Amino acid sequence: MKKLFIEQTADKVGQEVELYGWVNSKRDHKQIVFIDLRDRSGSIQIVGNESLKPLSPEDVIYVKGIVKERPKNLINEKMKTGKIEVEVNEFKLLGKAKTLPFPIDSDGSNIDEELRLKYRYLDLRRKRMLKNMLLRSSFIQEARDYFYRHGFIEIHTPVLSKTTPEGARDFLVPSRLQKGKFYALPQSPQQYKQLLMIAGIEKYFQIAPCFRDEDPRADRAYGEFYQIDIEMSFVEREDVMRMTEQMIIEVFEKLGAKIKQKPFPIFTYKEAMEKFGADKFDLRTEEDKKNNLQAFGWVIDFPFFEKTKEGGWTFTHNPFSAPLPAFKQQLLEKQNIESILTSQYDLVCNGFEVGGGSIRAHEPNVLETVFEIMGYKKEEVWEQFGHMLEALSYGAPPHGGIAPGIDRLLTCIAHEPSLREVIPFPLTSGGRTSIMEAPSEASQEQLAELGIAVKTKSRNKKVFDQIRELLDSHTIQYKILEHPPVYTSKDAAKIRGTELTQGAKALIMYGDKKPLMLVLPAHLSVDMKKFKMDRRMKDLRMATPQEVKKITGVEIGAIPPFGNLFEVEFYVDKKLGENKDISFNAGEHTKSIVMKYIDFERVTKPVILDFSTKI
Ligand code: AMO
Repeated sequence: MKKLFIEQTADKVGQEVELYGWVNSKRDHKQIVFIDLRDRSGSIQIVGNESLKPLSPEDVIYVKGIVKERPKNLINEKMKTGKIEVEVNEFKLLGKAKTLPFPIDSDGSNIDEELRLKYRYLDLRRKRMLKNMLLRSSFIQEARDYFYRHGFIEIHTPVLSKTTPEGARDFLVPSRLQKGKFYALPQSPQQYKQLLMIAGIEKYFQIAPCFRDEDPRADRAYGEFYQIDIEMSFVEREDVMRMTEQMIIEVFEKLGAKIKQKPFPIFTYKEAMEKFGADKFDLRTEEDKKNNLQAFGWVIDFPFFEKTKEGGWTFTHNPFSAPLPAFKQQLLEKQNIESILTSQYDLVCNGFEVGGGSIRAHEPNVLETVFEIMGYKKEEVWEQFGHMLEALSYGAPPHGGIAPGIDRLLTCIAHEPSLREVIPFPLTSGGRTSIMEAPSEASQEQLAELGIAVKTKSRNKKVFDQIRELLDSHTIQYKILEHPPVYTSKDAAKIRGTELTQGAKALIMYGDKKPLMLVLPAHLSVDMKKFKMDRRMKDLRMATPQEVKKITGVEIGAIPPFGNLFEVEFYVDKKLGENKDISFNAGEHTKSIVMKYIDFERVTKPVILDFSTKI
C-alpha cells in the first residue's frame, strides 16, 4: 500500500522512501534522466539513470530511493519539494499511458468541453480540477461538521420517489412490478423532509442529490445537482435565515473565502426589483471582484402566487410554503390572491440564487387551499398530495427549512464561470453523461420486462412538419419559402434570393462508424483532417445517398440542418453563426425556411466547432 504522499517527503532528507505516482514530465540528459513525479499532493524531482529513458508522460510508476538535498544552485523555491530530489534505487512501471487526447497542464478552458467531458477522468488530473474537487470535499466536510455540532441528524431520503413540484420536468423511472407506472426522481427531498419533521426529527440535514429536467445554463446543471437540504421544527423565518447565515459564514471562512458584508443585507422582493430590476443581484463592485469578495444578500416577502398564461394562478417558489402570518386569513378566504406574500427567503451570492426556503404550511387546510387556488380540484389534491395532508393531520410541528445549492456556492468560492467546473462528472449541455454517454438504448428484453414499447421515429410525419412543430413549440419566428425544386446550394440561394453564405449546408457523415451531421455555410467545405483531429477520430467519410435516406428519410439536397431530429451526433461550424439569418431546405426540394441563427442554435443545441475551409 502507498504510505507516503509526495509532499510529505520534504522532511525525509537522508531517508529511503517509496513513492507512487504519474510521470509529469521527463528531461533526458544522456546518462542522467530527471522525472517530475506527480501525485495528488504535489510533485517531486526524481533522478535516475538510463533505465528511466523509456518512460513517457502520464505513465504510472513506483519508485524507491533516497531523499537528497539539491545543490544550492538547483533549488526551486516555487515547489514545496524544491529543496530536495529522490535518487532512484529501484523503479517499476505500473501502468503505461498512451498519448492523452488533450494537454492537462493548462486550465483547460480553451479545450472543447465535450471532449473534456468524454475524457473527464483525464480532465480531472489537471490542477484546476483537482483543486475544485478538493474544495468540494472540504466544503461538504465543513458543512457536515457544522450540522453535527448543532444537533442536526443526517438522513437519506429515497431517490425512487413520487413527483414533487419544484417547477421543472421530472425524470421518470419505469416500474417492472407495476407495468405502466413510473417513479419520479426527486426534484428535491421537499416532502420527505417535512415528513421527517412530523416524525419528530426536529433538525434534519442531508447532502441531497436533486434531479431536474430543465434547460441547462451557466448557473444551472442539467439533470442533477446537490443541495444541503435542511429542515427544522419550531422555528420562524428569521431563525432559519440566521442559522443558514451562520453556517455559510463559518464554512466559507474556514475555506479561506472573504465575505463582503456581515450580517447579510436583507431586501424585500419589492426593494430588490426597484433597486436591481431582479431578485438576484451582484452586490460586488469591480474592486470587490478583484479582491475575490463574496457578496451575499437575502430576499424576502415574495408574492406567493403569479398568474399563469391561461389566467389561473401558480406558485412563485414552493407550494408547500406558508404565507406570511398576516396573510393567512386572506389565503384561506382566497381573497386578493395577487397581494398574498409568502414566507419564502432566497439567498443570493455574486448574482446567483444560491439557496431558497420557507416556513411551511403545517396546517392541512392551508396547504389544501394553496392547491385549490392553483386550480386543482379537491379530488386531484387528495390524489396527488393526500399523503401530505393526512400526515399534517397527526400533530405536525410548525416547521421550515432551506436548501443552499452546493454546486452554485462552490462556483462562487472557486470563481468558476460555470457550474460544470465544480461537478466531478457533469452531464453535457446536450444531456449526455460524461464518459459513458447515457442515455442509451435499452435492450428488447429490458423493454419487454417493463412493458414499454419505444416508438421508432415516425416516418409518416414529414420532416418538414417535424421542424415546424419544433420551432412552434419554442414560439420561434421563421419564414417558409415555397419554390420550384432546387438541388444545389447555389440554385437554392438564387431562387430564395438569399446569400450563399447564409445557406446552412447539412452533411451526413460517418465518423468511426457512427453517423454524424455536420452543418456549415454553403460556400465552404469540411476540413476533414482538422475535424478528425479535433474529435480524435480515426475514420471519417461521407454517407452514401442510400445511407442518408435511411438515417434522415430525406433525399440528398433537401436535408435540413436539424441533427437533433435524426438522433445523430451533431456539429455546427462556427462560421455559420456569423450570419444573423440562415436559410435551408426544410426536408423538401421545394420548401425552404429562413430563421434567426440564434434561434436555430437554441432549439437544436449542436456542438459548435471550427471545421470549415474554402472550397
Ligand atoms: P429551489 O428549487 O429554490 O428550492 O432549489 C434550492 C437551490 O438549489 C440550487 N439549484 C440548482 N443548482 C444547480 N442546478 C440546478 N438546476 C439547480 N436548481 C436549483 C439553487 C437553489 O437556490 N425544496 C426547496 C428548498 C426548500 O424550500 O427548502 C428547493 O428545492 O442554489
